[in-house]
Amino acid sequence: MTGPDASGNPLWTWADTTQDRTCVVAETLYELVGPRWFDELAIRFYDGVLTDPLLRPLYPTDLEGPINRLAGFLRQYWGGPPDYSAERGHPRLRMRHAPFMIGPVQRDAWLRSMVHAVHGGGLSAGAESVVIEYFVEAAQHLVNTPD
Ligand code: HEM
Repeated sequence: MTGPDASGNPLWTWADTTQDRTCVVAETLYELVGPRWFDELAIRFYDGVLTDPLLRPLYPTDLEGPINRLAGFLRQYWGGPPDYSAERGHPRLRMRHAPFMIGPVQRDAWLRSMVHAVHGGGLSAGAESVVIEYFVEAAQHLVNTPD
């Protein structure tokens, strides 16, 4: 399984060593894993939030909305239907995170829970590292408060 090609498009491929060729199995992560995978990822992520004393107070008591928004955004980002934008408008994630104090400590706590959630998703090691790399960059981009 490999990640983005030179043009930046993730090509979810696997190397067929017996035939000495690479097969493209899906053009996008969404195509590879299907819609439910993103809901399950968000549920696992928020399971981690529930027991994290740093993150839990940032979120509302009822996590159903956050689960659906995160899953919908990720589904759309990774090649699924644009339902998130239809419901919420342009993602503007930096603006939407402005009300929350996000420093390196919050970023790392968020990433800990997300990396754990990704590890539970049954992806190959190659696909996992593409997805985790994305989250590391995205979380850094949302830091709005210095240490
Ligand atoms: C860096 C640490 C982060 C913290 C502390 C954080 C915290 C939060 C909080 C408190 C909310 C409000 C809950 C809600 O109403 O949904 C939220 C919303 C959201 N977050 Fe994060 N977040 C972080 C990183 C990320 C990253 C890296 C992504 C995406 C890759 C992301 C995607 C979202 C989305 C899609 C929403 C819902 C936006 C909306 O439509 O209102 N967050 N986040």
